[in-house]
Amino acid sequence: MVSYKELGLVNSRELFKKAMEGGYAIPGFNFNNMEQLQAIVSACVETKSPVILQVSSGARKYANQTLLRYMAQGAVEYAKELGYPIPIVLHLDHGNSFELCKSCIEYGFSSVMIDGSHLPYEENVALTKQVVDYAHQFDVTVEGELGVLAGIEDDVKAESHTYTDPDEVVDFVSRTGVDSLAISIGTSHGAYKFKPEQCTRDEKGRLVPPPLRFDILKEVERRIPGFPIVLHGASSVPQEYVDEINKYGGKLKDSIGIPEEQLREAAKSAVCKINIDSDGRLAMTAAVRRVLWTQPEEFDPRKYLGPARDELKKLYMHKTQNVLGSAGKA
Ligand code: G3H
Ligand code: 13P
Ligand code: ZN
Repeated sequence: MVSYKELGLVNSRELFKKAMEGGYAIPGFNFNNMEQLQAIVSACVETKSPVILQVSSGARKYANQTLLRYMAQGAVEYAKELGYPIPIVLHLDHGNSFELCKSCIEYGFSSVMIDGSHLPYEENVALTKQVVDYAHQFDVTVEGELGVLAGIEDDVKAESHTYTDPDEVVDFVSRTGVDSLAISIGTSHGAYKFKPEQCTRDEKGRLVPPPLRFDILKEVERRIPGFPIVLHGASSVPQEYVDEINKYGGKLKDSIGIPEEQLREAAKSAVCKINIDSDGRLAMTAAVRRVLWTQPEEFDPRKYLGPARDELKKLYMHKTQNVLGSAGKA
């Protein structure tokens, strides 16, 4: 057992308190490899933003759990070396069992998500409470979820949203003791968040998705005032990346994200954490495709992963400065 405190990590409690008071959201950025981690840390140090480094169970399978943990520990030292030690949370994204959450806590995670959102309500309450009771012994913070996002989550596919029912939140939060709550108000995972037929078109012919359900968010806030809310599935799917990917041989069609103005709006409310993964995947893919297409003689991975990392860093800086409002808050 290693405590995250020995690794120089922090839990999310204080960060969310400040984010709530300051009307901004902390980024939840996922990482699976070194270049993503370098881009996240350097972007957040440069913009002086706190950050939540997220590890999914897919990332653990891909990269190895021990390596990821040491990388996060390295991130703390890297931030210091860059000259500005920002607060860093190491968070399990979409934990699906008590055992996984426990194992992450023992490995030095400072925060875990237990995602019981696909379970019947009472089972979600019981599982979340079990994780909270364990995690709080070690001062690890816990995120729960109520409501189901449309799309694919950990091999579970939901055809449509089950929006969070505001009638359930007081009971869920008080019975489980969770520290933050992910809700479903129209976001979803991946690069295809809406079907074109759900959208209208703007003057340039671009697809405009239906707005997020701010009415549900407001009602949740009214029921649990001052309680930290989390938005998953908050990538915006920048058209420039989609265009560049397609220009250099990709085949992405009708990919649609959440408009950044809506996320900015959400960040001013009780939304204290906004999860972004797909936009980073698009940024990296666009840069890698561009290099490999325009310089077909290259075969040194640093020659394409380096530009991918630069593009990612630019994206993350933009998110903290212009979308989440977390820049300058570390
Ligand atoms: O919510 C899902 C995150 O984007 C992580 O995705 O499970 O493919 O690593 P993953
Ligand atoms: P996106 O797929 O919209 O980036 O969402 C990421 C996420 O919610 C990670 O938990
Ligand atoms: Zn998610």
